[in-house]
Amino acid sequence: MTNKGFTLWFTGLSGAGKTTLAKRVEKEILMRGMGVELLDGDVIRTNLSKGLGFSKEDRDTNIRRIGFVCNLLERNGAVAIAAAISPYADVRREIRALHKNFVEVFTKCSLDKLTERDTKGLYKKALAGEIKGFTGVNDPYEEPENAEIVLDTEAESIEDSTNRILTYLEERGLVPAPVGGDVSAEERKAIEAKLKDLNFV
Ligand SMILES: Nc1ncnc2c1ncn2[C@@H]1O[C@H](COP(=O)(O)OP(=O)(O)OP(=O)(O)O)[C@@H](O)[C@H]1O
Ligand SMILES: [Mg+2]
Repeated sequence: MTNKGFTLWFTGLSGAGKTTLAKRVEKEILMRGMGVELLDGDVIRTNLSKGLGFSKEDRDTNIRRIGFVCNLLERNGAVAIAAAISPYADVRREIRALHKNFVEVFTKCSLDKLTERDTKGLYKKALAGEIKGFTGVNDPYEEPENAEIVLDTEAESIEDSTNRILTYLEERGLVPAPVGGDVSAEERKAIEAKLKDLNFV
């Protein structure tokens, strides 16, 4: 089993699928026996980055803090997963440079589709001018040009996107292959229940 730490960095517009996929991948990596932490933008803004707003400066500070913690985890052999919009390319580049093993995942989805999904009800408000500085509507999002993984979350299913990430990580030797085919569906369920009991997932 590998115990090489790495950072899996999701970037993409609100509602593009960062949290959904980060949670799926987190669970799967745990099931494969590695230590993993998920740093989700929404959660981080309630503690580590509490009080920060959405100016460029505050967004950059938030992302730098998440990147700093990811690096601490990575260098100790853990897997760090970041799921925050991270709209600015220069700060993403800066964070990448901190890391030895950095995998950027771009969850790509059109504004039309995001407005249709409107998972948090924010796009309609932003488009109506009720929210200022909303990424993708009236605040910039700089698409990554060198992301290791680009997911078309508009067309792909959640399962497809999750599998594409895991396959990439396996091929890079960053995560071990799934617990062998010798584990039955029942055993897998029991492992999942145990992880839940232990508050891991
Ligand atoms: N391939 C896919 N990958 C991820 N999510 C998908 C995919 N296809 C459809 N979805 C749906 O898109 C939505 C993604 O919402 P999610 O909260 O994960 O976005 P987010 O990027 O974390 O947004 P935010 O930046 O606001 O936190 C969910 O409702 C999910 O079911
Ligand atoms: Mg999210």
